[in-house]
Amino acid sequence: MSTQTTEKSAWSAIRELPSNVWSSVFRNPVPSTDLERASTSFTNFFLHIHPVKVHKNTLRPIYTMGLGLISIFLFFILMATGILLMFYYVPSTTQAYDRMLDLRGTVAFGIFLRNMHRWSAHGMVAVVFLHMCRVFLTGAYKKPREFNWVIGVLLLLVTLFMSFTGYLLPWDQLAFWAITVGTSIAGYAPLIGSQIKFVLLGDTTVGQEALLRFYVLHVAVLPTVLLTLVGVHFWRIRKDGGLSRPEGARVQGPGAGESGVVKLRLEPQKRVFGLQGFVRGPFTKVGNTPDDTVFSWPNLLMAELFVFVLTVSAILVISLFFNAPLEEPVNVMHPPNPAKAPWYFLGLQEMVSYSAFWGGIGIPGLMVAFLIAVPYFDRNPKGVGRWFAKERLMANTIFLSMVILNVIFIIIGTFFRGPNWTFVSPF
Ligand code: HEM
Repeated sequence: MSTQTTEKSAWSAIRELPSNVWSSVFRNPVPSTDLERASTSFTNFFLHIHPVKVHKNTLRPIYTMGLGLISIFLFFILMATGILLMFYYVPSTTQAYDRMLDLRGTVAFGIFLRNMHRWSAHGMVAVVFLHMCRVFLTGAYKKPREFNWVIGVLLLLVTLFMSFTGYLLPWDQLAFWAITVGTSIAGYAPLIGSQIKFVLLGDTTVGQEALLRFYVLHVAVLPTVLLTLVGVHFWRIRKDGGLSRPEGARVQGPGAGESGVVKLRLEPQKRVFGLQGFVRGPFTKVGNTPDDTVFSWPNLLMAELFVFVLTVSAILVISLFFNAPLEEPVNVMHPPNPAKAPWYFLGLQEMVSYSAFWGGIGIPGLMVAFLIAVPYFDRNPKGVGRWFAKERLMANTIFLSMVILNVIFIIIGTFFRGPNWTFVSPF
């Protein structure tokens, strides 16, 4: 080969470098046609969790309120800030509190990091709960989404437990006594209560063993369980035919998921691509497109990006103005009066003050059993995909009564209980 030819091919390699690198990673140019939009969703690792097209109902902010997305984005923030906190934290009763002081006083942005972690954790508990309420109140737990609802109930329990195990780590008075109260509620379980408590604490009281166990659960076991369950949760959304939608908006035909039948509208003037080049199995024929669907790229992607930016901004602003609490170091001789559980368990603590067994175990156990069983007993397919559908008046009333009772108990426990759990006025 002559020197001239070698030089020429070297130059063209340099000239084409950006586009070659781009196509080696993304396979497609930035999509501008429907075919490219479809292909981009299919060939990108991060995007192929989405279907190529979604029903417009999926993108209606008023339908999902983005609550499932906010939940997962809060979890991402928790992972990022949690890993950074792990560089400084030591799960030892003699060092943990000092490390909190270091974060506050000497580590650059340490306090900000801790604030972000703390507020995202509280936010996640609240948002996952609200997401469950939206799924219930739109009847989205019904066939074929029963199993995904059950996965969701497990996700809620894991989220609560993850926040609870993190609560102990600062090793201050608030942490120590909240966990002492929380684990003694677990001790009320009949027959195996004290064994559960012992396994959790590794001892009979909260101390070094408990701190280590809570740490391992918090940073390794529970996040792994949560991520695995989230993977199944998202996979099931795809397999169940996308998000629920009102009956009239269903997708009929060979490409539809289990949950719907497609209404076909012929629009010969429109050019429509079948996806047989990408999908094996049933496909949408040219000219027979399901109504009311849009391409995930860029519609769904932009909506997700918007929710992400909103979630991160909210956490940044809150963390800028409000500091995570840090009380005195642990003093086992001086319990605060009253010692209160974390806020999301204060409803339980309030009920425990009436009856240890019913408040701590009986009623919460029945509530979880109700949540798991409800999609298998409520088989009426009516009213799915609409908020507060008339046909679901009874189911929604029972569910909302449970939610409102729980919230009332949490408010009483938080604001209206003083020394020795007597009634006090917050005003
Ligand atoms: C870590 C916790 C959770 C995450 C990250 C999560 C994430 C999501 C996302 C992103 C969606 C789709 C968009 C949306 O509906 O907002 C979704 C849908 C769904 N989630 Fe969750 N979720 C969680 C917990 C739960 C809980 C606690 C339940 C119920 C007990 C639940 C049940 C469902 C169901 C049934 C759907 C399908 C809804 C439909 O088709 O309309 N999820 N979830």
